[in-house]
Amino acid sequence: MSIEFFTRLPLHGETQYLPGDPRNRGDWHRGGPSTGAVSGFAVGDHFTYIDYLGQIARAAEINGFGGALMVNAPTGEEPWTVCSLLARETRTLKFVTAFQPYHYTPWVAVQQAATYQRATGNRLVWNIINGGSDAIQRQVGDYSGHDDRYARATEFMDVVRGYWHNENFHYDGTYYKADGGGLRGPLKKAELPLICTAGSSIPAREFAAKHADYYLMRAEHPDEVRALIADVRERALKYGRHDIRFGLSIDVITRETEDEARAEAKRFFDEGVARGAVKAVAAHAGLRTARKLSYEHGYQEKAENPGYEDFFIHPNVWAGFGYIGIPPGCALVGSYANVVARIREYNELGIDLFFLAGYPHLEEAYRLGEHVLPHFRGERDGLVKSTDAPIELRAVNGGPTGA
Ligand SMILES: Cc1cc2nc3c(=O)[nH]c(=O)nc-3n(C[C@H](O)[C@H](O)[C@H](O)COP(=O)(O)O)c2cc1C
Repeated sequence: MSIEFFTRLPLHGETQYLPGDPRNRGDWHRGGPSTGAVSGFAVGDHFTYIDYLGQIARAAEINGFGGALMVNAPTGEEPWTVCSLLARETRTLKFVTAFQPYHYTPWVAVQQAATYQRATGNRLVWNIINGGSDAIQRQVGDYSGHDDRYARATEFMDVVRGYWHNENFHYDGTYYKADGGGLRGPLKKAELPLICTAGSSIPAREFAAKHADYYLMRAEHPDEVRALIADVRERALKYGRHDIRFGLSIDVITRETEDEARAEAKRFFDEGVARGAVKAVAAHAGLRTARKLSYEHGYQEKAENPGYEDFFIHPNVWAGFGYIGIPPGCALVGSYANVVARIREYNELGIDLFFLAGYPHLEEAYRLGEHVLPHFRGERDGLVKSTDAPIELRAVNGGPTGA
């Protein structure tokens, strides 16, 4: 089994308590008393929240992470801009920038990525996402339906590959047309970014099967993860692709002992409940169209006032973060030794790429770098590109012209 570790940059603000907490870092804190030097960054200051993200990125690469995931949401900092700003402050870190096909035309995405790749030594990874909520899509001006968005994404990637690998690419699709464009000159030296995607609806799995190097999941019980991997692998085989890989996003609360780690999970949980996070999650649920994860179904069956310990769905796998609205929802909670054992368990199921992060991201990047990643020294593979899927037949490929 191959294995690689990335982390995540908090584009929605940082806190060791809860996202949105008044004690949050930088100008992401919402009123309330400042926590110290890093709180209250404002436009025009010498240092801004992006400088803090830069510190986390440096900490991540110094501690041996191969890359950092950045989530794209209308409420957060825009990830492609952030990774462009941070690329030259870092040396090796790959940046996984999420975007939706409607954010760019295929050509703009291709040209922007080619320039970025040339400037950074191919350190860009794309996470092509398609929205989990129709209501939020409409807020930002996208009125296409769920399945339509995936059909558009499939064409988007066909056209991106066509432009990337040809100088004279023609395409006549439902969503896109192209008449003779393509990367030329020095831009051709850049590598197409590695493609990640996520989403567990059938159209999302089909899109991944055709176009993704890595299919990303939020952590669930190992049985659910195993089943999803098997399904997407089978779908990829239909496109002649034997080597699609799998990524798992999971937070980590780890300490020297089980008791210390559990005490920290309890602290998060109790604070979240006390601050009304459970009601806020319920209010947001109405906006969401994405599949409920297996453990979320169990939330309703919990006792009236569940405790943090009611949310272990597997040894050391804790869904309490989801209950109090902290994405991705699941965390590994336990001693360093047990967290390493659980990572190995998910790795054996077929997870090649782990996105590990904790709060606060800066300090926890050091903790993970000092106590978890060293156990995998000598086993790391970096990112691996899979076999390209064939471009749809309706793409009329003019091939390279040398023009
Ligand atoms: C690791 C990971 C990262 C994700 N990043 C984003 C993101 O940056 N922005 C976003 O809107 N959705 C993100 N998602 C959500 C999915 O892309 C997708 O929209 C959601 O799972 C619903 O898809 P579905 O309705 O097709 O199942 C992410 C999911 C995973 C597992």
